[in-house]
Amino acid sequence: MAIRPVLRMGEPCLLMKAAPIAHFNTPDLHALIQDMEDTMHHLNGAGIAAPQIGESVRVIIFGQKKSEEMINPRYPDADAVPYTVLINPVLTPVSTEVEDGWEGCLSVPGMRGVVPRYVRLHYTGFDQYGTPVDRLVSGFHARVVQHECDHLDGILYPMRITDLKKFGYSDVFFPNQDIQDD
Ligand code: NI
Repeated sequence: MAIRPVLRMGEPCLLMKAAPIAHFNTPDLHALIQDMEDTMHHLNGAGIAAPQIGESVRVIIFGQKKSEEMINPRYPDADAVPYTVLINPVLTPVSTEVEDGWEGCLSVPGMRGVVPRYVRLHYTGFDQYGTPVDRLVSGFHARVVQHECDHLDGILYPMRITDLKKFGYSDVFFPNQDIQDD
């Protein structure tokens, strides 16, 4: 329905704790998710959280639909993550194992940083119809969920970087890759 402007780091909305969704399967909720999907696809994002388009509610979307077998140019090596709408998510790590990995964010355009994340986790929540979602995931899928859920608590990935030498411009760290400016 609409590609919305993505807020960039520094905007107060990105630092707020977002409110839970109380009512599912409403026109407003469907419209919000459609806008998030349009915006994420336009920018080739791996995921997007509602606060990134200025809506401080606990809604994230991530992954790709089966019909879109094209490879995301921002994350060409990423394992396939199924398209998921996740509302009021709850994450629970299932082991203490953590691994470093490169991340970017539509709200921090042109940058990349190495962020430690739990390797395996269990997540629950609801889709836009109120149907429960319950998954055990690992690797890139687990990383994306952690990154997007952080947005709902006002946390941006640079706040998680433990070695700031591994935070910088995408085209400096990856000069041979055609990484877009976001
Ligand atoms: Ni992000």
